[in-house]
Amino acid sequence: MSFAQKFTSPVYRRLFKYVWPRKYQFFLGILGGAIYSGIDAYFTHLMKPILDKGFIDKDQTFIKFMPFVIVGIFIVRGFANFMGNYFMSRVGRNIVMDLRNAMFAKLIHVPSQFFDQNTTGQLLSKIIYNVDQVADAATNAITIAVQSIVLIMGLLVVMFFINWRLTLIYLVALPLIMVIVRYSSKRMRRVSMRVQNALGVVGDISEEAIEGFREVRMFGGETEENKKFAAATRNNLNQAMKVVVSKSISSSFVQLVGAVVLAYTIYLATSNHLVSNTITPGGFVALLVAMVMLLKPLKDFTNVNNIIQQGLAGAESVFELLDKPIELDAGKEVIARVKGSIEFRAVSFSYQTSQRPVLKNISFTIKPGETVALVGRSGSGKSSLISLLPRFYEPETGTILIDNIDIKQLTLTNLRDQIALVSQRVVLFNDSVAKNIAYGSLNDRSESEIWDAVDKAHAREFIERLPQGLHTIIGENGITLSGGQRQRLAIARAILKNAPILILDEATSSLDSHAERYIQAALEDLIVNRTTLVIAHRLSTIENADKILVMDQGEIVEVGTHQELLAKGAYYSELYQSQFYKENSGDNLAEAIL
Ligand SMILES: Nc1ncnc2c1ncn2[C@@H]1O[C@H](COP(=O)(O)OP(=O)(O)O)[C@@H](O)[C@H]1O
Ligand SMILES: [Mg+2]
Repeated sequence: MSFAQKFTSPVYRRLFKYVWPRKYQFFLGILGGAIYSGIDAYFTHLMKPILDKGFIDKDQTFIKFMPFVIVGIFIVRGFANFMGNYFMSRVGRNIVMDLRNAMFAKLIHVPSQFFDQNTTGQLLSKIIYNVDQVADAATNAITIAVQSIVLIMGLLVVMFFINWRLTLIYLVALPLIMVIVRYSSKRMRRVSMRVQNALGVVGDISEEAIEGFREVRMFGGETEENKKFAAATRNNLNQAMKVVVSKSISSSFVQLVGAVVLAYTIYLATSNHLVSNTITPGGFVALLVAMVMLLKPLKDFTNVNNIIQQGLAGAESVFELLDKPIELDAGKEVIARVKGSIEFRAVSFSYQTSQRPVLKNISFTIKPGETVALVGRSGSGKSSLISLLPRFYEPETGTILIDNIDIKQLTLTNLRDQIALVSQRVVLFNDSVAKNIAYGSLNDRSESEIWDAVDKAHAREFIERLPQGLHTIIGENGITLSGGQRQRLAIARAILKNAPILILDEATSSLDSHAERYIQAALEDLIVNRTTLVIAHRLSTIENADKILVMDQGEIVEVGTHQELLAKGAYYSELYQSQFYKENSGDNLAEAIL
């Protein structure tokens, strides 16, 4: 690809869309750079009169006049330099901001599948690292390109004026330089990609070690983690050094070629009469200065290519994220508050990451206000089934209806407004207890409403004991709280939402039997007048359910009430004997003693 092609490639054109809204600043930046370089070229030209008139002719007016000219030129040059840097950086930083915001907005709306397929480390490195490279390509590369082109042109004009023969000889070297540039640029792009991937791995390992610091220590994983991390940073270092090596070698090569030509020119100018008679000493010095000065913009020009290569590699990865489709939200219907009937019609589902079906031909109905328990061994597909209801995932075949309306016809926001979910993995934000309970669209709830929910979730006691009560910041993902406390906050959040459909996915699994008995009472109040889907291992929730769906390997194998299923003496009663009894034997024993 030639330079021109690179600047007009689709990725670059797309980058330019981010530049365009700030086109005036951008052009001011370019203008600043151009003036700056133009002055440098002009200053080289001044070398000739300075030497010829100042030193050889001793022209008095020139000698008096010259210092002012020099200072004046440098004032303009400084101003142009500031202008170029300021406006280009402004445009560049704005692009970084815009791209980051766009990426984040995308992350908030991509389908859940996306997070199964991408690691956090890779995503973070895109948002933090790649965008910077992209902004460099969009602005720095252009600044340097403009500055070096103007300087190269300016110097060539100056050189032609002084002595066109010598200049022509010098120009013979240019094609050679372009060949080196072309070769190095291909390699640059490959290596830049690898640097980025290596950085993603560094992020992944760090993140795991940070989140899993307890596991790392308890299982003596320190050495292994250290080794893994050292290997990743070593790889990162190797790749980064390859970038440096390619960069340095190519620019050194360019300079070497330039120096050889320079040496030859000096030889010609001094040994050949035809040349030496047509040039003044001042002209010759100016020519030499121009030739030496020409090497730097030529070198910079090869670097421009490297910046562009890195930037394009970064841009591809940034745009790849920006091009991800967002969650399908084609529904138009909005229902203020659903009555709460739920129907699954022949629903099948598998995760994209593994083609194995997770749910096979699931059909059932729930009437408004009913409580339905999902029971089955771990891995049987219970959590997957309920994740289809708020459309975290889309079924492969089949339909899901709420109030006899296909959930695809509702807007996503409206659908999710109808559902309160306490999931297996409680997620809390690094914010106050109050903000965690009244999160998102609940943020307009009053403090007394929050306390009300807190009471119902039996969380008042521990919240009042926190240093700042409701306004205590609970740390990243609620690290300062116990599992049971976290679950009670999640339950309070669901209570506050007061949605017609409630989903509890092992919501009380982290509670001790004492706390659970309290919560149980609270949940029993909560499920009145609500359609409730509950996944639980403990007896009482299931026993009282209107209906139990028994799942095995992605299929509903039995349906009925607790009594009916026990009487049937098949899968459920077997599960009940083996699983629930054992799990609850501790509690029952405690109860018996009490
Ligand atoms: N995000 C995911 N990507 C791929 N497979 C998954 C994902 N989540 C769960 N699974 C798989 O789907 C199956 C059902 O899991 P899940 O619904 O969590 O079961 P349960 O909640 O009944 O324990 C399991 O085999 C599990 O490995
Ligand atoms: Mg589960």
